Formats: sequence, C-alpha cells, structure tokens
Amino acid sequence: MNTDIQTIQSIQTLKSVRPIVATTVYDSIMAELADQAGMDLLLVGDSVGTTLLGFETTVHVTLEMMLHHTLAVSRAKTKALLVSDVPYGYSHDAYGNIFEACRQLIQAGASAVKIEGGISIAPTIKSLVDSGIPVLGHIGLLPQQIKNLGKYRKFGKTDVEAKALIEDAKALEDAGCFALIGEMIGSDVAKKISQSIEIPLIGIGSGNDCDGQILVSNDLLGLSTKDVPSFVHPFGDLSENVIKSFQEYKSAVIERTYPNE
Ligand code: KIV
Repeated sequence: MNTDIQTIQSIQTLKSVRPIVATTVYDSIMAELADQAGMDLLLVGDSVGTTLLGFETTVHVTLEMMLHHTLAVSRAKTKALLVSDVPYGYSHDAYGNIFEACRQLIQAGASAVKIEGGISIAPTIKSLVDSGIPVLGHIGLLPQQIKNLGKYRKFGKTDVEAKALIEDAKALEDAGCFALIGEMIGSDVAKKISQSIEIPLIGIGSGNDCDGQILVSNDLLGLSTKDVPSFVHPFGDLSENVIKSFQEYKSAVIERTYPNE
C-alpha cells in the first residue's frame, strides 16, 4: 500500500527505483479500491467511453463527461497521483480552448492532465506546463486518432516510425511533460525511448522495458462484456462474479428465501 501521497516528482523518482504501476478509474469506489491496493497513478481515462458508457470509441467522450468522472474520482481523495484525460478534439484546438479544458479538469480535482499527441503539440504543452498545468504525454497508438487510423495497431514497426516516436518523446520531454504513456509501441522501440529520455515512459501493450505499466481497470479486472486487447492479462474475473451474484439474488427472490425475517 502507498503510505505517501504521490506527486509528479515522486512518480519521476520511481524511474530509477522500480516500475510505476498505474490503472484507470472512473468512479469513487474503484478509485478507493485501487488506492488501497497501492497504485502509484490513477488515470480518469477517456476509455470511460468504451468501458462504462457503451461507446464504440473514445471519440464520443466530451469534456462534460470527463469532468463528471474526474469529480467522482477526486472525492476518493487518493494517495495515488490523479491524472485526467483531455478528451477528443482539444489537443489541436485553439490554445484558449485547450487551456480552458485543462483548467476545468484540474479544478475538478485532477493533479495533472493527459494529452494525446507528439511533436506537433509540444509547443501547446509547453505553454500549458508554463501556466501551471502538469501534463502526462501520450505517444504511439492515439485512440483519439481512430478515424484517421481505421483500426488500432502496433506502432514503431518501421525505422521511420521508430525514429518519429523517439523524436516525439524527446520533444514532449523538452516541452515539460512529467512522464509519457507509450501505447502499443514495439518493445524494442519502447526500450530505446525509455533510454533516450529522463522522464518515465509508462507502457500499455509496449513490452516489459518501459518504466512502468498502465492497464484499463475493467480489462485487468475481467469486468467487461467485450473482447480485450491481446496484451491484456486478466488479473481477475469480476464479470463472472457479478453474473453469479445477480443469479443467486434472482433465485433467492423467486424461491422466497430472500428476504427472510
Ligand atoms: O483512456 C485511457 O484509458 C488511456 C489508457 C489506455 C492509457 O489513455
């Protein structure tokens, strides 16, 4: 269990100590449970759209939805560092609009925001960091680009893509990101990125040489009715438990064994 409150500095220090452990949370109860388990960093991910809200992609997630879930998670007052996702469309929007989105997420209780994108948004990120908004970068597979990509895939397979990813990582570090998420990056390239930057690279589907790992909580808990990405190892089977509990409740009501005096 974490005994200390995590800060962006303590997360950075972990790079030289042990892998950072992170997951997503979308509500107060899951945030409390994840915190009790000792997570270092909790992300209110825009994956809330696909895990909880029934959308096909994260493109449908709005700032209002992110604020609603960030407020719920922040009420858990976790020791883990709370980061909230900037939703679709903001990272390339006018600076005033992205600043306003970040301001609202921070004032809703996030300690930092996560923004998808590489070198092209580094100047925006620099301005945000300069204005007091800590930023977690996100490179590799960018789910908010799904309309351009067509499908989710691995990144860094070609030399050109690998070089571009390393450049993205360095530009985001120079812009002031305190850490990066690297999603679906070939493990050799992820290792090179981690070695090329001082800040931590937290991987998801990017192999074992990153400075930490993040998984979507519903995927790792086995609390989903959909297929999960191939890199996910389910550490639980909550869906089965939920169905079983509902079935037992149904039987008890029908058989009049619940309620009993
Ligand atoms: O929204 C999310 O859950 C994420 C993780 C996949 C890192 O961005």
